[in-house]
Amino acid sequence: PAQPLVLPSILAADFTTLGEDVADVLDKGADGIHVDIMDGHFVPNLSIGVPIMASLRKRFPDAYFDVHLMVTNPELFVQPFADAGADHITFHIEATAGRKENHEFDLIKQIKATGCTAGISFNPPTTAASVQHLVGHVEMFLAMSVHPGFGGQKFIPEVLDKIRELSPKLPDTARFEIDGGVGPVNAGDVAAAGVDMIVAGSAVFGAPDRAAAIAAIKAG
Ligand code: DX5
Ligand code: ZN
Repeated sequence: PAQPLVLPSILAADFTTLGEDVADVLDKGADGIHVDIMDGHFVPNLSIGVPIMASLRKRFPDAYFDVHLMVTNPELFVQPFADAGADHITFHIEATAGRKENHEFDLIKQIKATGCTAGISFNPPTTAASVQHLVGHVEMFLAMSVHPGFGGQKFIPEVLDKIRELSPKLPDTARFEIDGGVGPVNAGDVAAAGVDMIVAGSAVFGAPDRAAAIAAIKAG
């Protein structure tokens, strides 16, 4: 199979030199940039918001920006992030619990109406069966391999079973992304399980040789 795409997460970048850090990883083989949005409610942390997305799009008109909404009310943020320049927006299935029935389908419709592609993410304790009804409706499944909220955590290997279970069911047009604790040491395992998009924060931005880190993750 083709090598997976690698998307560095800017959560691990230096925000005082964000433009240079993004330019650097794009220059060194990154296929796009993963933008982690946290609201201090869905996850116990804050990160960045719409203005950063807008600045990144302005400076990098051709880059692919993959927005990961770790927020309680994704419907409030779809249009703002699309307007700010996102290419793709992922929300969490856990954020639809307790909302009105079919909320996830409304969110997917809302995302697609902006022209972005849509993704669904699921946390380590959430089963693959919880998102299987969205096969054919989203362009990306995102398996969290850490509990979301912080970069630099340890990879949870049990997620590989869920990827093996779900990835064969996806149409060719859909991507399977993994996020959290992935780097050169386990990239081969995640690709073998069926992932074709790898998010890596600390393993790329923290590497002494970022080009080598990206190449090693791709090579598996
Ligand atoms: C976790 C974020 C991840 C994280 C990845 O809440 O969604 O994107 O920044 O960082 P690393 O690769 O350092 O685990
Ligand atoms: Zn993420």
